[in-house]
Amino acid sequence: MVFGLSSLRSAPCLPTALLAIIAALGCAPMAARAADLESVLAGQTNMTTFRELVKDHPDIFTKLPSGITIAAPNDNAFDKLGNFDEWRDNKTHVEAVLKYHVMPKVVSMPSIIKGDSIWAPTLLTDPAFSPIKGGQRLILTKQPGGEVVFTSGFANRGTVLVEDIEWDKGLVQVIDSVMRIPENLESTARNAYHDMTAFLGALYAADLYDELILPAKDITIFAPTNAAFQKLASTFSTLPKAQLRSILRYHIIPGEVSQIWEFKNASSLATAEKNQSIHILRHTNFIFANSAQMLQTDILIANGAVHLIDNVLNPKSNITRPDVEATSQKPVFTVAGTQTGTGTAVPTPFTEHLPCTVSCPVTEVASRTETTGGPTRTVQQGGVGPTSTNGGVGGARCTGMVGVGMGAVMGVGAWIGL
Ligand SMILES: *[C@@H]1O[C@H](CO)[C@@H](O)[C@H](O)[C@H]1NC(C)=O
Ligand SMILES: *[C@@H]1O[C@H](CO)[C@@H](O)[C@H](O)[C@H]1NC(C)=O
Ligand SMILES: *[C@@H]1O[C@H](CO)[C@@H](O)[C@H](O)[C@H]1NC(C)=O
Ligand SMILES: *[C@@H]1O[C@H](CO)[C@@H](O)[C@H](O)[C@H]1NC(C)=O
Ligand SMILES: *[C@@H]1O[C@H](CO)[C@@H](O)[C@H](O)[C@H]1NC(C)=O
Repeated sequence: MVFGLSSLRSAPCLPTALLAIIAALGCAPMAARAADLESVLAGQTNMTTFRELVKDHPDIFTKLPSGITIAAPNDNAFDKLGNFDEWRDNKTHVEAVLKYHVMPKVVSMPSIIKGDSIWAPTLLTDPAFSPIKGGQRLILTKQPGGEVVFTSGFANRGTVLVEDIEWDKGLVQVIDSVMRIPENLESTARNAYHDMTAFLGALYAADLYDELILPAKDITIFAPTNAAFQKLASTFSTLPKAQLRSILRYHIIPGEVSQIWEFKNASSLATAEKNQSIHILRHTNFIFANSAQMLQTDILIANGAVHLIDNVLNPKSNITRPDVEATSQKPVFTVAGTQTGTGTAVPTPFTEHLPCTVSCPVTEVASRTETTGGPTRTVQQGGVGPTSTNGGVGGARCTGMVGVGMGAVMGVGAWIGL
């Protein structure tokens, strides 16, 4: 699918015939004010670090063709990294990060329409960092107040402080954060979007993570929130693995990276589950995949995009449509027994299948003291309790999963209809 700058609806300057008049109004042709990158950066305050990086990496910055936009983090942005000296020592990493700040297009901030989000491919096309067609992307969103925010991996965002500084190859946009290269689904779920750890755990339980997600090039994923899985905990605890695989494959659109505005009303998306597609429905500001509502969209991962939805999709219920007047949609599975509660005090299904990491000591059991609402009590979290016995889907890989899967904490990003 094409992701690009197609929603840029106007160019910064008008055709030649009008230039004479316009020049007087301050929209001169670019060449008139062009200068090389170093002198343009030198003209800005607090750009010392980026200027040094430009000087240290001539291989990236001296051979650029015309028609380039550079997102240039200011000094404070690099200070925020905390470990700059260490960061700078890793040449491979620094080069990749710098390429991620260079867009091979002239992207003018005033030309972005309020409320619009555009995806801008960057020069980061190295397959090690960019298992995706056309290079790793940044998302540019114009806020209601008019400022432009750049979004990168891990929901890392930077606001444009100085817009459209002209140089001889294009434009520089000064931003207040260093953009973070999108990482794989697992890393993104563990570190930034804790609300998809049940989905990640389920992919592991079904042996689909290594098979289908990790090696994919270009993928769109509809990830149900932890609450969506909690509501169905009893149903999923006895589900045969083959059925779980089928359900999860139904959440994956292979071969395409689709950002939210590309989903047309009443369109169908072919999923990784053979012969099964998902129906898209738009209603006012809401977007539904079958009857599941998009909660958060356009989350960047290394090989694609993730959209968070409020219910687990069911391939056996592939013609379900939402009740657009309702505030929430019903699960499309039969709930076995009483519906389990949601929230941080309730175990998160499937998180016990997540492989252990250093932050996941095998013997430790997560606990947290809850201080709100009545007497203080200690609750257990994450993969403990009755729902962790996923009889049908293989043994636990990590019985003491700590630190993930209990978040109602959502990262920032594009919110739909909330
Ligand atoms: C430059 O950075 C200093 C120190 O962080 C800050 O006090 C000053 O306001 C900054 N200047 C501009 C123009 O951003
Ligand atoms: C340097 O960065 C690369 C890419 O991010 C990473 O794979 C590698 O582990 C880093 N090397 C060190 C020594 O930290
Ligand atoms: C299902 O998909 C396969 C290819 O994956 C195709 O050959 C077959 O015709 C499809 N069946 C139906 C009923 O659409
Ligand atoms: C829904 O599922 C049925 C039965 O598997 C299949 O024949 C049909 O093509 C599916 N419809 C869609 C829209 O995927
Ligand atoms: C989307 O399509 C459905 C059914 O085709 C239609 O009822 C609805 O009005 C459409 N929504 C929008 C926003 O156009």
